Amino acid sequence: MNLVQPPALPAPEGPPPARAQVLIVDDRAENLLALEALIRRDDIDVLRARSGDAALELVLLHDFALALIDVQMPGMNGFELAELMRGTARTRHIPIVFVTAGGREMNAAFKGYETGAVDFLHKPLDAHAVRSKVNVFVELYRQRVALREQLEALRRSQAEQEALLCELRATQDQLRLAVRIRDDFMSMASHELKSPLTALRLQCQLRARHLARGNLDAFAPDKLERMVATDGELVDGLVRLIDDMLDISRIRSGKLSIEPAPCDFAAIVRRVAERFAEQLRGCGGCELALPDSLVGRWDAMRLEQVTTNLVTNALRYGGGRPIAMRLAVEGGTQDEGDAMPADRSAVGSAVGARAVLTVRDHGIGIRKEDCERIFQPFERVTGEHGRGGLGLGLYIVRQIVEAHGGRIDVDSVPGEGSAFRVELPLAGPR
Ligand SMILES: Nc1ncnc2c1ncn2[C@@H]1O[C@H](COP(=O)(O)OP(=O)(O)OP(=O)(O)O)[C@@H](O)[C@H]1O
Ligand SMILES: [Mg+2]
Repeated sequence: MNLVQPPALPAPEGPPPARAQVLIVDDRAENLLALEALIRRDDIDVLRARSGDAALELVLLHDFALALIDVQMPGMNGFELAELMRGTARTRHIPIVFVTAGGREMNAAFKGYETGAVDFLHKPLDAHAVRSKVNVFVELYRQRVALREQLEALRRSQAEQEALLCELRATQDQLRLAVRIRDDFMSMASHELKSPLTALRLQCQLRARHLARGNLDAFAPDKLERMVATDGELVDGLVRLIDDMLDISRIRSGKLSIEPAPCDFAAIVRRVAERFAEQLRGCGGCELALPDSLVGRWDAMRLEQVTTNLVTNALRYGGGRPIAMRLAVEGGTQDEGDAMPADRSAVGSAVGARAVLTVRDHGIGIRKEDCERIFQPFERVTGEHGRGGLGLGLYIVRQIVEAHGGRIDVDSVPGEGSAFRVELPLAGPR
């Protein structure tokens, strides 16, 4: 007897066992009825087929625990049906029990059917033998289904574990970065704060001495003017540094807030260009290509900060050569380069449209391998041209741009210059 015994598996926990379906195939209705009566159980469904063709239709629609097939049938006989079932991936695994009136020599007759479980029942059928075979295969089927479900659950929990592990790694990286930022910040900030403060203190001491000696010449109008200008620069530097520090701590604690409201990006860029007019003249000028107005939902103060940072960098690393700023609308329902109407109600009307600001210089440029890291805090690519600041500007800029739902990237050729491109959805952050 080549009956396959089910392996001893632990009783599966969880939902009740799947209902099993058993297919019986015989060309004679009375045989089908008799067989069904023999194997009927509350927990299985018996489906009948009167021919090989009808059986093939059923096996393609249902997942059978077992097929009991009469060997002698007109048209397609039982073995031919089994051959066809074997040829299809979907039905190949269905265990088959041939029902035959032939002798035991029939057991070897079906040679081709080598994969899957095969067994034989001989007529006249022994009720006990039929039932026990059906029970064995139904049990096997149930265990297979349970195993498949357990495997699926295992796969799911493995995927969840992997996702958790990824999250954990990302958190670990963030923590490491946060600790590094804090440490770097403490050492750099104390140094950077100290230099202008020391300069101011020395100036104060010097002036106090002049006053004590009655040396009022030291405060002659031309000298006073220079004094005020120098003091202003030192104080501006300190204010900027403290603002950057505050932004960094806001970013790190997730509290960098932006307050989007209708505002005109073109006006902001024009204002920044005017503020830096003197320095821009010093490097051969600034070519401005701006629409009259470009209105979107943004935080005006933050956009001014972004523009200022990019212009400062272009001045710092621009090799004293001219700078170009271009602002345009791209994508959405507006044509590239079109200005948004000044009409405030039009804000965000161009679905998917973005404002694109490009700040281009012809300075030292940035190597390809540095183009990503300059957006990280304290990352500077100083080299012999090193006259940068703390290395916070672009990090803060990227955070602001991303908080608006936008993006920033750089295109640069060492020795030829850089173009920083900021893209902001007109509709503002989502
Ligand atoms: N236009 C540019 N051309 C060449 N290199 C640039 C340019 N802009 C930025 N970089 C490089 O990227 C680094 C990071 O820029 P970022 O603005 O973040 O810092 P920073 O200018 O050094 O200091 P901070 O902006 O904090 O005063 C700079 O130190 C510089 O090496
Ligand atoms: Mg900078």
